[in-house]
Amino acid sequence: MNNDADNGAAPSGGSGRRRGGHLTDCALIGPGGAAGRGEAQDTRPDVLVLGGTGKTGRRVAGRLRAMRLRVRVGSRAAATAPFDWREPAGWPATLAGVRAVYAAYAPDLSDPEAPERLGALARAATAAGAERLVLLSGRGMSSAARAEEAVVAALRGSGTTWTMLRGCWFAQNFSEDFLLPEVLRGTVSLPAGEVAEPFLDLADLADVAVAALTGPGHAEQVYTLSGPRALTFREAVAEIGWATGREVRYRPMSRAAYQAELIARGVGRVEAAAAMVTLRETLDGSCSAPADGVERALGRPPRDFSEYVRRTAATGAWDEE
Ligand SMILES: NC(=O)c1ccc[n+]([C@@H]2O[C@H](COP(=O)([O-])OP(=O)(O)OC[C@H]3O[C@@H](n4cnc5c(N)ncnc54)[C@H](OP(=O)(O)O)[C@@H]3O)[C@@H](O)[C@H]2O)c1
Repeated sequence: MNNDADNGAAPSGGSGRRRGGHLTDCALIGPGGAAGRGEAQDTRPDVLVLGGTGKTGRRVAGRLRAMRLRVRVGSRAAATAPFDWREPAGWPATLAGVRAVYAAYAPDLSDPEAPERLGALARAATAAGAERLVLLSGRGMSSAARAEEAVVAALRGSGTTWTMLRGCWFAQNFSEDFLLPEVLRGTVSLPAGEVAEPFLDLADLADVAVAALTGPGHAEQVYTLSGPRALTFREAVAEIGWATGREVRYRPMSRAAYQAELIARGVGRVEAAAAMVTLRETLDGSCSAPADGVERALGRPPRDFSEYVRRTAATGAWDEE
């Protein structure tokens, strides 16, 4: 299914502008772009996108390609840069010669191994001479905080800079991930009560990631990324229902019932427990206020959930099968 209408669009605003005033932070891509010069020798920097076939990574990779940068798509199945988080022995070959790295950890930041592996990745990136590491993190998640700490500790004094992208709940969870089958079946069940969430459009996440990977002013910045408006899950699925003409309802569940359902669906007990910690931490109301990360990074407001719904409905992602 191709519901990637926002893939490959050039990032708006941001790159080329300085925010945060780090005097040593040179842009990877100067005005005019490295891609436009150098007929004799290709001096364009290589950017490695880990999770480059996933929801965020393929948008980041698409935008980098549109800027005519050399992109290595890193994942287990990726042809250009084979990469497995569980096999660090293969990382140096994938990282060799890379100038900037985008890291979307898999399967999830709530994986207990995530901090150690991300710290190891940061050290490997430094050893390979990478200048920047941009980490996809999560808002309100203690596991994400531990992952960030591991990366910061690994890069301290190394010469490789970091940028943290603390994403709120992705809007695309409704169209490209675990909530899609539920939308298609007509009932979205979550232990979210009537809490409101400022869903993040991954088009914005990708714009910020590309700015951080290629432009000046994003070193040692923590961007909390959200949409401009908080909606309850009931309101969010109602918007999807209106846009698609199908009935989609929201069914709030208790945490205990949801955890039991995850296990009944085949999710391991450890993974289910970790997922429940993330759900409890992110859906307790502490993440409801819209954040200013997109505005701070790009100098423009984030996209509204309604725009995501309109764009996604037009791709047919929610059509009857
Ligand atoms: N969903 C949310 O609302 C939300 C919010 C904040 C943060 N996050 C974080 O976002 C991250 C996920 O990013 P995403 O949604 O862009 O990814 P995604 O759509 O879940 O795709 C996963 C990507 O990682 C690769 N991958 C899977 N297992 C791998 C492994 N063992 N080694 C190397 N690569 C592997 C996959 O490709 P292959 O199968 O080819 O390996 C794919 O490219 C997680 O860390 C999550 O905690 C999510």
